Amino acid sequence: MGIQKVMVIGAGQMGSGIAQVCAQAGYDVKLNDMKQEFFERGLGVITKNLTRDVEKGRKTEEEKVAILGRITMSLDLQDASEVDIIIEAAVENMEIKQSIFKQLDKLAPAHAILATNTSSLPITEIAAVTNRPEQVIGMHFMNPVPVMKLVEIIRGLATADDVYKEVEEMTVKLSKTPVEVNDFPGFIANRILLPMINEAVYALYEGVATKEAIDDVMKLGMNHPMGPLTLADFIGLDTCLSIMEILHEGLGDSKYRPCPLLRKYVAAGWLGKKSGRGFYIYE
Ligand code: CAA
Repeated sequence: MGIQKVMVIGAGQMGSGIAQVCAQAGYDVKLNDMKQEFFERGLGVITKNLTRDVEKGRKTEEEKVAILGRITMSLDLQDASEVDIIIEAAVENMEIKQSIFKQLDKLAPAHAILATNTSSLPITEIAAVTNRPEQVIGMHFMNPVPVMKLVEIIRGLATADDVYKEVEEMTVKLSKTPVEVNDFPGFIANRILLPMINEAVYALYEGVATKEAIDDVMKLGMNHPMGPLTLADFIGLDTCLSIMEILHEGLGDSKYRPCPLLRKYVAAGWLGKKSGRGFYIYE
């Protein structure tokens, strides 16, 4: 029968984006979070995105209503008992993810695939706490999910070929491009992106140029849509630091050491756009 019903865990920026693209592709989606207000906030963002699509003539009002109608609220992991795939997009914390996967393993039907949207935590380590490691896989969406074309699909050590194939087919149905990656720290996206961002922070730290100049070089010289320091603010400086730490620890090479200035900003609570201040100030 294949995948028809989807559960997304976490109604934050990534989870709500994933729920939106799944509902747009015709899947029934249970969007799970711990509190109704978190679900409502996520649904609010989805509604705003779809309203913009209607205004821009990319969707009809009827399509918008149908997409929203396919998303239902879930406040209980028990709802996993009715779905074919669960895509977890909760916080980037191994203990929390392992605890969720342990519960999902007990609650989800035997055929269900357990996917995680982790940006850099090892899939194999998450899979190891379940009794179905061959059905555990990484589906790494990029932010903002409705816009970005890529999904990195990460095979854990035990991920089965037919599970990979099903997730690959689903990704294409979501109008995204799947790229196959093996389970190593940072996968591909963040193994390459984050050292570039970290190097930009070093350039600022060493006084090579101003933040604006560093961003301009990469925007105007390399055609990047955002300069690396703006992008770091957009991703969240705490997330950038945590990914650099995973690369540093997991690969053991000093070239991945996080820049002290990045640590300092995170310690100060300057986390980027979400906290109102990072390398730049946001009103
Ligand atoms: N949700 C939905 N749609 C969004 C959006 C969002 N959060 N942000 C922007 N858009 C849409 C806008 O609606 C707009 O479309 P229309 O004008 O046609 O309606 C379109 O994207 C372009 O947006 P803007 O004109 O506002 O701004 P822009 O041209 O600068 O594009 C951007 C914004 C798409 C974010 C672009 O700057 C960009 O591609 N930036 C780089 C993003 C990137 O690198 N993402 C990866 C981050 S790393 C990651 O995700 C992995 C990880 O694990 C850390």
